[in-house]
Amino acid sequence: MSTAAILTAAGSGSRLGHLLPKALVPLAGVPLVVHAARRLVGSGAVDLLVVTAPADSVADFQAVLDGAQLGIPVSLVVGGASRQASVAAALAQLPPEISVVLVHDAARALAPSSLIARVEAAVRSGLRAVVPGARVTDTIIEVAPAGGGALDGRPLAGSVLEVVDNPDRDALRIVQTPQGFDRALLVRAHAAGAHRADDETRAATDDASLVAALGEAVHVVTGDPDAAKITTSRDLRLAEIVLADARA
Ligand code: CTP
Ligand code: MG
Repeated sequence: MSTAAILTAAGSGSRLGHLLPKALVPLAGVPLVVHAARRLVGSGAVDLLVVTAPADSVADFQAVLDGAQLGIPVSLVVGGASRQASVAAALAQLPPEISVVLVHDAARALAPSSLIARVEAAVRSGLRAVVPGARVTDTIIEVAPAGGGALDGRPLAGSVLEVVDNPDRDALRIVQTPQGFDRALLVRAHAAGAHRADDETRAATDDASLVAALGEAVHVVTGDPDAAKITTSRDLRLAEIVLADARA
């Protein structure tokens, strides 16, 4: 039984607003994709790494990953129109001996090796779909467009919402990556969701939701705050602090 990690890195990082594709943006001088790849290798659980890259940056990614000397086989796959399409493209390239697949975001560059090992071990123990879930510290509300409010006879702005549910915080989790799967189940989930993959507004934003859409169980292991996703320049600055603390 061998384990592959698909490292999604084909996004542009439009919300980060950097000249480079997000996964090549340096954090303490090291590209995000290299931080993530080193932690995957450091888990000891990954035998093969497949990185999705933007079509026009494949040579840059190749150079950066070669330079990182990761010590396991690394291949590059051109990503698709959505994260879902990128994962599907990588899945199609896996060699036959792979039975467990981790899917991880380069944008979660500081997800620790201990978390990666925990997810992989859970899949290996027989759970066929596993995600890390982090507790929420805020109260979360579910909202919907508010009907019919008026102020001084004028309708309220269309952006006004109303609360339709106050879910119990103890029952909520933030879904992180890496997510781990039995290979055959993940392939089946992507095949069933393939019609959504080319439209970024309809595509799945993670893999476990595609598995859940099949009616299959998804299990949750304890997440890690350091696996938070880097989306904005503020997140990148916070990641610099997390990394400096880890090294202190
Ligand atoms: N991703 C990918 N292929 C795409 C889109 C995204 O492999 N077509 C990857 C990104 O590189 C990232 C992860 O999926 O590691 C999560 O996506 P996100 O955080 O949204 O990154 P970007 O799409 O790059 O950022 P933005 O949405 O701000 O443009
Ligand atoms: Mg995106």
